[in-house]
Amino acid sequence: MKIGVITGASSGLGAEFARRAKTFAGGLEELWLIARRGDRLRAMETEIQGCRVRCLSLDLADPASFSEYRLLLEAERPDVRLLVGCAGLGFLGDFERINLADDMAMCDVNVRALTLLTAQTIPYMSSGSGIILISSIASFVPTPRMTVYASTKAYVSSLAKGLRAELSPRGIHVLAVNPCPMDTPFLKIGNILGNSRAFARLPRCQPAKVAEVSLRRCEKGRGQYTPLLLFKVYRVLAKLLPHTLLMRISRV
Ligand SMILES: NC(=O)c1ccc[n+]([C@@H]2O[C@H](COP(=O)([O-])OP(=O)(O)OC[C@H]3O[C@@H](n4cnc5c(N)ncnc54)[C@H](OP(=O)(O)O)[C@@H]3O)[C@@H](O)[C@H]2O)c1
Repeated sequence: MKIGVITGASSGLGAEFARRAKTFAGGLEELWLIARRGDRLRAMETEIQGCRVRCLSLDLADPASFSEYRLLLEAERPDVRLLVGCAGLGFLGDFERINLADDMAMCDVNVRALTLLTAQTIPYMSSGSGIILISSIASFVPTPRMTVYASTKAYVSSLAKGLRAELSPRGIHVLAVNPCPMDTPFLKIGNILGNSRAFARLPRCQPAKVAEVSLRRCEKGRGQYTPLLLFKVYRVLAKLLPHTLLMRISRV
């Protein structure tokens, strides 16, 4: 059974991946959609036609979720053609003031869960399959007032690069995606809306387009995707200039 696994599929960018994933790499038979809100996943199920959908209501901050996922993989032994690691959180605030539980949630979901779920899934992947890991433009340079979030995303980008090198001999594609701000619930959940002049000024990208282009780039075996020219330039500058200098503009 050829399947796609998408985390964070209940909302925003992950939901856009879910809407478009069924044609990935010649076609998927089933999508496994992961998030906490089962009602939102079931709404996605009714929306997606021409491909079976399995709703996995899992809290990726809860270690028990990974036993459930492992048991499901062992029972079904699927041919995972696509893994999209999109679930994520990003809280705005000075390091000393931010709620520690929010910091830990970012580490748990953005780093720990992504690593664990990817490690559990890779044994079920083979040549021609793809892994898409959702990082951020915040991964390019440390981002004051989103210090922990930017650090988790630097990890995601590094993980994607390392995995790409390890898995390319087996024909498994790995793509890191670096979205700029998108108008999704992420901005409200993270206390960003109305609290950051930088965010208010930055151009937005469209989640539907980001998902569509990411899927096509992953099929082609590309390693990176950063939407919008401004942020592509920012990514190049981050490789050329000292981060202490760039952090004057990366503050949000
Ligand atoms: N929006 C932006 O400006 C922006 C910019 C750059 C990068 N990104 C990245 O894009 C990705 C998607 O974000 P988005 O903008 O689409 O935000 P979103 O609409 O808030 O979606 C976040 C998704 O993550 C899931 N999630 C959060 N905590 C979870 C947990 N403990 N267990 C399981 N699922 C969990 C949510 O599902 P439930 O709540 O149902 O669990 C939801 O489906 C994230 O990795 C984010 O860091 C976003």
